[in-house]
Amino acid sequence: MKQNEIVNDIVYKASMGRLLVMYTQIDYLIMRAVAERIADAPDDESRLFMAKQVGDESRHVRIQQSWIKKFGTDTTPVFGELQQEMFLQHFRSLSWLDFLTDMYVCVEALGSEAVEQVVPMADPGTRQSLKTPLQDEIDHVAFGLGKLRDELSKLPEKKCSAYLESIPARLDFLDDTLHGLGIDVPAMFNAVGADYQEVVQTVLQRRQQILDELAQPLAA
Ligand SMILES: [Fe+2]
Ligand SMILES: [Fe+2]
Repeated sequence: MKQNEIVNDIVYKASMGRLLVMYTQIDYLIMRAVAERIADAPDDESRLFMAKQVGDESRHVRIQQSWIKKFGTDTTPVFGELQQEMFLQHFRSLSWLDFLTDMYVCVEALGSEAVEQVVPMADPGTRQSLKTPLQDEIDHVAFGLGKLRDELSKLPEKKCSAYLESIPARLDFLDDTLHGLGIDVPAMFNAVGADYQEVVQTVLQRRQQILDELAQPLAA
């Protein structure tokens, strides 16, 4: 291996390690936030699904933790205690409708979209470790978007349009919060060979696609 290849390899591993730790912590926080929310979910279908999701996220955490161990990189948490508490507090404070938006559109749908962008650049072991988690996320997103659509259909048309228009601002707020935590996400993505600007573009396209889909029953 040439000198610069060795350096690139070290930088790749360290950054991928950080991304994996971050992803695992988010799964863990999703597990806890969803578990807390089961108690006041509005219907049995939601309670049953969310209980399954809690099991899925727990499995994702296990898979990722054991992969990170084998990968051999730094396991120091990316999010500190206070940041984790802020995350849980945020989700506790939300109405059911806002919970669906923040959890399933922002964290689940757009978060896994960002992770998907990293998969092609990842080493085979990392790619394998992401397979089951990313497969399950499709289910979680389908549930969340379905429930969100149900809730929106209960609103008067004007309120519903106003809510849809407010979604990008909710997502921007969460995104700004992540950046505000001083976590240099662009640097982590770039270091593993993903063009961060492209990742952002893809995530924004997915966001628009979700918003268009949510708006559709209105037009029908
Ligand atoms: Fe997950
Ligand atoms: Fe999930």
